[in-house]
Amino acid sequence: MNLKDSDRQYLGRGTEPDDLEVTGTDHGLLRDGKGRRYLDWLSGWCVGNFGWGAEHLRDAIRDYRGPDYVPPHFHYAPWVELARRLAQLAPGKLRVAWRATGGTEAVDIALQIAMAVTGRARFVAIKGSYHGNSIGAVSIADEEARAPFPNRLRGCELVDPPLDADAAARVEKLLAPRDVAAVILEPIVLNLNVEIPAAEFMKRLAAACKRTGTLLIADEVASGFGRTGKLFASEHYALKPDVLCLAKAITGGYAPMGATLTTPGVARKLGDKAAFYSTYGWHPIATAVALANLKWIAAHQRALLRHIEQTSKYLRTRLARMPFKALRIKGLAIACETDSAERAAEVAARCKDKSLLIGAEEHCLMLFPPLTLDPAPAKFGMDILERALRD
Ligand SMILES: Cc1ncc(COP(=O)(O)O)c(C=O)c1O
Repeated sequence: MNLKDSDRQYLGRGTEPDDLEVTGTDHGLLRDGKGRRYLDWLSGWCVGNFGWGAEHLRDAIRDYRGPDYVPPHFHYAPWVELARRLAQLAPGKLRVAWRATGGTEAVDIALQIAMAVTGRARFVAIKGSYHGNSIGAVSIADEEARAPFPNRLRGCELVDPPLDADAAARVEKLLAPRDVAAVILEPIVLNLNVEIPAAEFMKRLAAACKRTGTLLIADEVASGFGRTGKLFASEHYALKPDVLCLAKAITGGYAPMGATLTTPGVARKLGDKAAFYSTYGWHPIATAVALANLKWIAAHQRALLRHIEQTSKYLRTRLARMPFKALRIKGLAIACETDSAERAAEVAARCKDKSLLIGAEEHCLMLFPPLTLDPAPAKFGMDILERALRD
């Protein structure tokens, strides 16, 4: 049986996979079963922020000499070191980290914390956004995602984008009865084709949360670790979330990990109401990779952010000359609006034919190149996209 047929037979998938068999990642490129190499400008949807073949991450795995496993209820010094470093980097007053295996678990922990701390059961989220695949995360998702699950959590209200003054007024109205546990959002909504909230929206949202005792959960699973040109997207708005969800690029794609950060105040209120035991949460090898990554980020932070800014500027200049209806760019999170979903899919397919992997979401082309992208591949990728639009 060929791979396609056995994939269909043995793997549970809701949708057909893309017609590409990944067999390797080297020198920043992704290799398929035919030995063909691609520029990967999806980065596993904001996972491989530091490129494929990142030496500091590969070395962390190769040089690992620690225990095979550490049970969650034992002491393990690298966990404390990782939590301490996350607290140093994170926006606002986030100081306490809960261990998780990925983004969905980090979000679910955040929702549970909000319910336990406030004693409230309702949530507010942004319509059409994505926060993972647990029943909690699905319950705060769009109607379409909720539909197959009649027993989901109830009372999750959605706010329509664009996130402007009108949306702020809707949030204020929803929070006024003081019965909402938390508002959850990506501070730059990458899952809504890089929806960039207005500064006024974020300001009024933060004030309304504070006024009504509602927790503010920033889901930075995708936007965290430099993607939007700041280490965390919350920083664009000087946002001080009560809870922060992290995953994906925390290990740059080299090991599974999630983290939920809270302020000491929230942790105090939570007390011993929940422990969030996670068998594989912060496995020691994943912890070693994340620690190596955070050390690398700390050592290169200024240069990395400057590089992202320069690369973003170059890509913006090139994209502005192409026939798009609009561009939404924040750092290296980029959505290019085309005329239709068909057009976006067609252009993305042509780019793939020419060895550039980009995404097509609704009528937008999605570009998430590695943050370490060099000028030569940046030009090469833009040349491919330009030709794909012309052909
Ligand atoms: C914003 C956001 N939150 C949560 C998740 C879920 O993360 P994971 O797939 O690691 O469970 C994702 C995944 O794409 C995401 O983009």
